[in-house]
Amino acid sequence: MQREAARLLQTGKAIAFVPTMGYFHEGHLALMREGRKHGDALIISIFVNPTQFGPSEDFQTYPRDPDRDASLAESVGVDVVFAPEAEAMYDKAYQTYVDLEMLPQYLCGPSRPGHFRGVATVVAKLFNIVRPHVAIFGEKDYQQFVIIRRMVRDLHLDIRIIGVPIVREPDGLAMSSRNTYLSEDERRSALSLLQALQQAHKNVAQGIRDAGQLIHEASELIRSYPYTKIDYVAVCDPETLENVSRVEGPTLMALAVWVGKTRLIDNTILTIDY
Ligand code: PAF
Repeated sequence: MQREAARLLQTGKAIAFVPTMGYFHEGHLALMREGRKHGDALIISIFVNPTQFGPSEDFQTYPRDPDRDASLAESVGVDVVFAPEAEAMYDKAYQTYVDLEMLPQYLCGPSRPGHFRGVATVVAKLFNIVRPHVAIFGEKDYQQFVIIRRMVRDLHLDIRIIGVPIVREPDGLAMSSRNTYLSEDERRSALSLLQALQQAHKNVAQGIRDAGQLIHEASELIRSYPYTKIDYVAVCDPETLENVSRVEGPTLMALAVWVGKTRLIDNTILTIDY
């Protein structure tokens, strides 16, 4: 991959890059279609990164389908699929990590210790291997998106980071490779995440600004569905991820909810229309 990236750069090609963990759905394909617009060469990676999974998380069972992924990638015009083995990314003596100070402490951070350290590390490594001009990330993983943007600024990486809005199933569930874990009944309860976000938009439109009240109402709605267990419902600054007490301008509402044994996330930007 390093040789291929060097060759592309030598011929003056702009490289667009989409890092993924595979098991593609329309959300991934939207990232690749966006990438296609920004580069002469479109490179994707498929790597289920062990360092971003906790010991009790689903690294072993994370869904994988490399053949299907390869043909989907081809169908949207991907030029190179980089799918390294774990040993090539982390050899036995591996010991270097990228750790951000503040952003990983919020939202998903407390329930997934080490997760964003693993993400920032593997993305930095992939950037060094692929050497992209532009990299594309989904805004469903909003915290990951702001962490990568911050890391790129902090480390002076000359890479433009582009966010792509959440892609949803026809009934509104945010697309995720982990949706395949849901039973039919759980799948119905999973719709509570979007409903809670939609209700928050309505509440803000009706003049509710208090973050505590917005969080309370969203939580009540989610709890009214069976199989749900809230990890967090947060109303926070979209750049720093710090909690805010009132919605005064564009404000992130982010959710993480267990539905049965599956942890789902979703988010929206609440805005005030005058
Ligand atoms: O969002 C993902 O699929 C992963 O966290 C990423 C960015 C590919 C890093 O492993």
